[in-house]
Amino acid sequence: MTDHRRSAPHVARNAEPIAEVLHDMLPARGLVLEVASGTGEHVVHFARAFPKLLWQPSDPEPAALRSIEAWRAETGLFNLLPAVSLDARAAEWPVVEADAVLCINMVHISPWSATVGLMRGAGLLLAAGAPLYLYGAYRQAGVETAPSNEAFDADLRARNPEWGVRDLEAVVAEAEGRGFRLERVAPMPANNLSLVFRKA
Ligand SMILES: C[S@@+](CC[C@H](N)C(=O)[O-])C[C@H]1O[C@@H](n2cnc3c(N)ncnc32)[C@H](O)[C@@H]1O
Repeated sequence: MTDHRRSAPHVARNAEPIAEVLHDMLPARGLVLEVASGTGEHVVHFARAFPKLLWQPSDPEPAALRSIEAWRAETGLFNLLPAVSLDARAAEWPVVEADAVLCINMVHISPWSATVGLMRGAGLLLAAGAPLYLYGAYRQAGVETAPSNEAFDADLRARNPEWGVRDLEAVVAEAEGRGFRLERVAPMPANNLSLVFRKA
């Protein structure tokens, strides 16, 4: 039988540091939607770490959906829902309610329209006070960009001219335009940042 589980090495390094940030911002109970779940390894880690929350993984890529499903089947976690196909750019999302939204490593590896869609969709989905969490590499005004992130940006743009490390200010402006305020920026491993927004 084909094993559809995929594995991304960075998850072993960043899942626990991310969970520590999530610990301070997630509600005690409710449903957490992850946009762009990729392999599904993060959401499995989080479902284990936060057993009182219900976790909803998603991704638009069929291979990612198969991988998430394969991990989910293997772990048998009761608080991990079947993955849904969700493209952040879609006018209508297949999830109509959530108490928090997470999106890890999508903003720089997708066209800007995906970030616009993410902010729009999360803005419609979340109630006042609910959190939106982003993780990834960003450029910060007045802060020298790490050489590794400059190289990463060049590599991303070579792979797809619509991809690239985004300016933090542009991401924050897009979020603010959809009713979020930036609550926290936390430095993370390998020159990444955690961004915590809250629906105003
Ligand atoms: C680099 S992977 C990150 C996956 C996972 N979050 C992680 O950190 O390992 C980027 C993911 O973004 C997803 N993605 C790309 N464009 C998207 C879009 N428009 N809406 C939702 N997800 C998208 C891809 O399918 C892929 O799974």
